Amino acid sequence: MTAIDSRRAAPSRDALDPIEIASRDEIAALQLERMRWSVRHAYDNVAHFRAKCEAKGVHPDQLKRLEDLALFPFTTKDDLRQTYPFGMFAVPMDEVVRVHASSGTTGKPTVVGYTRGDIAMWSEVMARSIRASGGRRGDKCHIAYGYGLFTGGLGAHYGAEKLGCTVIPMSGGQTEKQVQLIADFKPEIIMVTPSYMLAIADEMDRQGMDTRTCPLRIGIFGAEPWTHAMRAEIEERLGIDAIDIYGLSEVIGPGVANECIETKDGPHVWEDHFYPEIIDPETGAVLPDGEMGELVFTSLTKEALPIIRYRTRDLTRLLPGTARSFRRIDKITGRSDDMLIIRGVNVFPTQIEEMILKDSRLAPHYQLEVSRDGHLDTMAVNVEMRADQPYDATTAAAAAKDLTHHIKSFIGISTKVNVVAPEAIERSMGKAKRVIDKRPKG
Ligand code: DLL
Repeated sequence: MTAIDSRRAAPSRDALDPIEIASRDEIAALQLERMRWSVRHAYDNVAHFRAKCEAKGVHPDQLKRLEDLALFPFTTKDDLRQTYPFGMFAVPMDEVVRVHASSGTTGKPTVVGYTRGDIAMWSEVMARSIRASGGRRGDKCHIAYGYGLFTGGLGAHYGAEKLGCTVIPMSGGQTEKQVQLIADFKPEIIMVTPSYMLAIADEMDRQGMDTRTCPLRIGIFGAEPWTHAMRAEIEERLGIDAIDIYGLSEVIGPGVANECIETKDGPHVWEDHFYPEIIDPETGAVLPDGEMGELVFTSLTKEALPIIRYRTRDLTRLLPGTARSFRRIDKITGRSDDMLIIRGVNVFPTQIEEMILKDSRLAPHYQLEVSRDGHLDTMAVNVEMRADQPYDATTAAAAAKDLTHHIKSFIGISTKVNVVAPEAIERSMGKAKRVIDKRPKG
């Protein structure tokens, strides 16, 4: 049997939640009922949200149709920063059973919280995502997303258990061991960032494992942008179906949207829990389906952190449902802010700037160079020594070593820091160009 023959088929219609194949009218009715609850819940229990509504002169009673959502204020990472750490929570802390965190634009991370009910809902949408990807009860699921404050590992874990898979909670890193466990435990499913999948495939080659006959059948890849070309490469190299999973911490984590194995035409948004809008990132106006813009989400059932009109900064468009009644999102083509994703870690240039400014030897003139080493992205930081500091190879190396260490311990990524002489970095005439992207396009 070739790897292609062994590929998984779509789940039978009977296995689906009825709402996945309901009519658009039924979906809209459920969304409206849930949206009214969610906006009211946030308004009654989150002072920061209520104040923003009052400033805009809008009240939950005005939410009579789904389109009325446009009357309400957006939520951004900045709102979560202003209320750090728990100020957006809508329930008492003794109902919050878990927190996760993602990168903020500066030192403080963005903190999200979950009630027991939220964890149950998240497990359900993740189980639904794995099933849509072709996974079944009894499959072994190797999870190589990071466990910890990042939502990837634990989100995938709970969903896979809920579906009835045997979970292998490997987490990220230790590439040799990843390959050894795949060879020995023979998982059918792997959940990992697409770039790390390719690094694991390189290690399989190095260990002499035949990647085409490796036991894996399905890969569920997300947490970073990836292209159709990358899908083709992964599928060809490993003889698996490569499925796209989308999500973000502020909305729940992974499992906001997931592709279906039978169509592989973009992730279906689980619209019974997360209501999507596309807006013009400049004006904030809602755009019709099919038009490119910034993706915005409103949670419909979340208890601990109801999130209303959260600006994801991800650029894409909404497409009609195919394998499910829920609408799909197209591939994320970019972001409306300057966030970078380096080896699965979200990084804002302002976070690096903050680290630079803490060191009295360094000047705030810097550039970040992002390039691709094999399949993984790497970042170099070029920063100037201050003019009043002695500059030679020794002082530059010492300052570089300290900054590398601080970036690694506070942000969690390894960088190559080059401390250069004063005035060595080109000054800009207008907006500073902080990021030089040397990654191949496409
Ligand atoms: O990356 C959640 C996740 C974990 C999704 C595992 C999928 C798999 P954050 O760390 O908050 O959460 O980062 C969210 O990552 O706004 C996108 O910019 C990007 N992203 C996530 N999934 C995709 C994807 C997790 N499938 C940010 N395609 C989002 C493109 C993605 N970008």
